[in-house]
Amino acid sequence: MAAQIIDGKAISQQVKDEVALEVAKLKEQGVTPGLAVILVGEDPASNVYVTNKERTAKELGMHSVLHRLPADSSQADVEALVDQLNADPAIHGILVQSPLPKGLDEETIFRRVLPYKDVDGFHPENVGKLWLGDNALVACTPAGCMVLLEKMGVDLKGKKAVVVGRSNIVGKPMAALLLAKHATVTVCHSRTADLPAVCREADVLVAAVGRLQMIKGDWVKPGAVVIDVGINPVPGTKSKIRGDVDFDSAAEVAGAITPVPGGVGPMTIAMLMSNTVKACKMQMK
Ligand code: GUN
Repeated sequence: MAAQIIDGKAISQQVKDEVALEVAKLKEQGVTPGLAVILVGEDPASNVYVTNKERTAKELGMHSVLHRLPADSSQADVEALVDQLNADPAIHGILVQSPLPKGLDEETIFRRVLPYKDVDGFHPENVGKLWLGDNALVACTPAGCMVLLEKMGVDLKGKKAVVVGRSNIVGKPMAALLLAKHATVTVCHSRTADLPAVCREADVLVAAVGRLQMIKGDWVKPGAVVIDVGINPVPGTKSKIRGDVDFDSAAEVAGAITPVPGGVGPMTIAMLMSNTVKACKMQMK
């Protein structure tokens, strides 16, 4: 194996340590950053995620509340809770865990969160600011990928970056962030012609398609940096997860690669904490 392994656990811990220091400073000024997470229903994976988010926020010294609503909550019920949190001065960040149960309109609920409390970076105002290069709250997973690249000392200027996947949560904001760092960015998707050939062009390859081990070693340019956003259950196992990249074959070719688990995953929560502090500071001004 040739590639350097990018240690998302260690790097996320650095981010969390920095956030804890910021929280301590804010508390000295009499302000405790507050995060509210809303979970509707009982999706087991979501339950694990939100529990981790709440626990991590508390560990870093924040005020943290988890609101659990029943799966049969109405649109009006969820919106009423968002409104209440929007108006609550102790809450600086609001996250509505996705996916919501069927029958609820997720986009409308995301947009109801005030832009300056939108620690998910999903609100059109934050998405627009991101593309304009304004100071925005940025979606946590792509923001975490950028921190990994930065901490690994990857200079993106003039590099070819290929993002596989065009979701609103990862692919699109990832493209905007790479572009802002002067990479030449290609965004691929299910209708891209000759996807392996496009991937082989990449100096930096970001995989965010949600398909188990789809990207093989012979899709990777020798020496490329590979960031694997996938979190895919392995069929026939109880709780094993693997990425969108076939790690073993890709690691033979890449210069550096994130493992799954232990790569991008831990960064997402760390960036949520960082966004909550950022939102808090914005609201103090
Ligand atoms: N579900 C999976 N990832 C995310 C995320 O980043 N934010 C929210 N709100 N829900 C998610």
